[in-house]
Amino acid sequence: MLIEGFHYFTTPVPRAQRKLGYLRESVLLMSRSRRCRAAWADHLDAARSATRQSCADLVRRRTAVILGSGLLDDVPLDDLAQRFARVILVDMVHLWPARWAARRYANVTLQVLDLSGCVSWLRGEGERCADPLSVFDRDDIDFVVSANCLSQLPILPLDWFEARNRPPPSDLGRSIVAGHLEGLSRLQARVCLIADTGQVTDDREGHVIERLDLLHGITLPDPDRSWIWEIAPFGEVGRHRRERHHVQAHLDWRS
Ligand SMILES: C[S@@+](CC[C@H](N)C(=O)[O-])C[C@H]1O[C@@H](n2cnc3c(N)ncnc32)[C@H](O)[C@@H]1O
Repeated sequence: MLIEGFHYFTTPVPRAQRKLGYLRESVLLMSRSRRCRAAWADHLDAARSATRQSCADLVRRRTAVILGSGLLDDVPLDDLAQRFARVILVDMVHLWPARWAARRYANVTLQVLDLSGCVSWLRGEGERCADPLSVFDRDDIDFVVSANCLSQLPILPLDWFEARNRPPPSDLGRSIVAGHLEGLSRLQARVCLIADTGQVTDDREGHVIERLDLLHGITLPDPDRSWIWEIAPFGEVGRHRRERHHVQAHLDWRS
C-alpha cells in the first residue's frame, strides 16, 4: 500500500490521465506484476523473445517505438537500446521504474500518447482521434512493437461510460481494437504485435468458470507464436479461481 501510494502521489502524470484512471491502473498493474512475478515469468520471456526475433533481420535500425511500454516488464530494453539508434517508449503513464530504466540509456526517450484516441473526446475536447498511430508513420522509424496493450485500450473508455450510467456508443470497444490494428497495418515500419486475446477462468478441478473475449469480437489471424499467460494464479483473485490469458505474437504484422 505504501509503495502504491508513493507511485500514485509522485508520478508525474497530467490531470486528465489521473482523472480517467490511467495512473491507478498502472499502479495496480505494477503491484500485481510484482506479486505474480513467478507466474508471469514465462509470459514475459516469451514476449521479449518475440520482440527480439521480430527485429533480428532488420537492416536499417534507426528508431524503434514500443507502444504500451508500461513497466517494461515484457520489453527487452537493453537489446533494443543496443540494436537501434533511438528507442521511444510510448504509454499513457510512465511509472518510476520505467523512468529510471530509460534514464540508463542516452538513446531511450519517453512519450505520453493516448493510443485509444478517446481521451480528448471523453474530456469534451474534440472528436475521437481516428488514427493515433499516424504520428509514427515516419520514414525514420524502422520497428514498432505493440506490447501487450491492445486488449487494454478499450477498458477505461468503456469504464468512463459505465461510471456515468451512460451506454457507450455501439461498438466502441471493437472500434478501438480495430483502429489500433488498422493503424499498425498502415505503418511503414516492421510491426511486431503481441496481444492477449482471450481470458479463461477455471477452478482447481479444471472446470472452466468463464471465458472472455478480450478483443470485442475481433479475431486475429494465425499467429507466429502463442502461449498462455497465467495473469492471476490461484490466490490472486480468489482462492479457488485462476485467470489465464491467451497471448498471440505476430512477428511481422503487415505480412
Ligand atoms: C498490460 S500493460 C502492457 C505491459 C507492458 N508492455 C509492460 O511490459 O509492462 C498495458 C499498457 O497499456 C497502457 N495503456 C492502456 N491504455 C492506453 C492508452 N489509451 N494509451 C496508451 N497506453 C495505454 C497501460 O498504461 C499499460 O502500460
